[in-house]
Amino acid sequence: MPDEASERVAGPMLVEDWDRLTFRVNREAYRSPEVFTRERVDIWLRTWLYLGHETEIPDANDFKVRTIAGRPLIFCRDSEGEVHAWLNSCPHRGTVLCRETEGSQRRFQCFYHAWTFNNDGTVAAIPDDEAYADLDALRKNMMLRSVPRLEIHEGYVFISFNPDVPPLLEHLGEAAEYMTMIEEQHASGVTTLPGVQLYSVRGNWKLAVENAMDGYHFSPTHNTFVGYLRENGFAVTDDNQYAYNLGNGHSLLVLTGHGGRISMIWEPRFGEAEKQRTEEHRAEMVERLGEKRAHYVADESHILFVFPNLLLFDIEGLSIRQIEPVAPGHTDVRAWQLVPREEDPESRALRMKTVVSFVGPGGLATPDDIEAYEAVQRGIEATRGAGELDFSDMSRGLADEVKGTQGRSIDEGAMRGFWRHWEQVLGAGLEVTGDRPASFLEGREMP
Ligand code: FES
Ligand SMILES: [Fe+2]
Repeated sequence: MPDEASERVAGPMLVEDWDRLTFRVNREAYRSPEVFTRERVDIWLRTWLYLGHETEIPDANDFKVRTIAGRPLIFCRDSEGEVHAWLNSCPHRGTVLCRETEGSQRRFQCFYHAWTFNNDGTVAAIPDDEAYADLDALRKNMMLRSVPRLEIHEGYVFISFNPDVPPLLEHLGEAAEYMTMIEEQHASGVTTLPGVQLYSVRGNWKLAVENAMDGYHFSPTHNTFVGYLRENGFAVTDDNQYAYNLGNGHSLLVLTGHGGRISMIWEPRFGEAEKQRTEEHRAEMVERLGEKRAHYVADESHILFVFPNLLLFDIEGLSIRQIEPVAPGHTDVRAWQLVPREEDPESRALRMKTVVSFVGPGGLATPDDIEAYEAVQRGIEATRGAGELDFSDMSRGLADEVKGTQGRSIDEGAMRGFWRHWEQVLGAGLEVTGDRPASFLEGREMP
């Protein structure tokens, strides 16, 4: 199927010209059903995918229903506390087994013929089972179907539909460290808050990735927020902020110029009481982690993209975003808030207010961003079939790649890293002119 599909997509998807220093993406990549089908096979059914956070199902028998890569799943903890990802499909004849969105129960009963399964996957009951010739074999063969692989790193639960995928830590590589650094921010660790924000976006999933890795849009798109920070006495700058490609399609923005970090970097809009609490927390961090590590954990904001469907915003507050492609021009984005397990109630209230006012559904950032990627999806219809005009430009900062200079967050290097990995995985077609330098895939040295 993938090969046949590739033949129908005209021309290369990426065009790199090292003589002219240009990098362009074929806009068919955002709207072609053939590309979407290939992505399903070569990305979504092949690599690790973020399923959810362990703290969303804190107790035995908790469950959430979730669709990943178009496949309905039950994300649950069994009665012994073990985490599972079951296909949400009755082994009898395929009906959706659990039709609730979340809850706590030991068993799932299919409404169609009332087969019942324990949350560890075993068959609990089959009505009128004497009509089956070999009941023992039936019960064994009709256990709930599990996703082939499930591994957990720092509470982040990943699954793969590919039984032969390499170990999770190998896939995460350097990205794993930044997830650990979030956990280290607080002695008590972090937990998700109940509730999820869902954005159903009329845009391709890769636009959501680009937008998060695009520091260039920050000042023009979010000028209301930038103005608000300035009015509140906080300097805003794009200087000394960098973008890194961490390998395997993962990327990272390191930001130091866009505002405070609750409990770690105080700024005037957080108020005087929070200043004192921030100082105390910083002293505790130094004691627990050492000066150098505490500095790295506390003093930089990070936006981390873990290929292909996880975004971690470690900025003013902490948010998890999960990307679920529905169709070439339709993506579901889900967001959860991460908070310290133990936190002063006033800090918690401030954290929620700050997070909601920036990345929340009515905040100063997210609605702008969603409009940006929907506007791209609408706008690129204008150049459909227009040959050379039907390409998007991502050349900004390409000269730095030749020099081997560290790319800035306001350039487009993190996006190029994503697209190169995407192209490599799909074999979607790359056209290179001139000599490609070797320097652009480097990660970052950490203490
Ligand atoms: S399809 Fe579920 S019991 Fe028959
Ligand atoms: Fe944005």
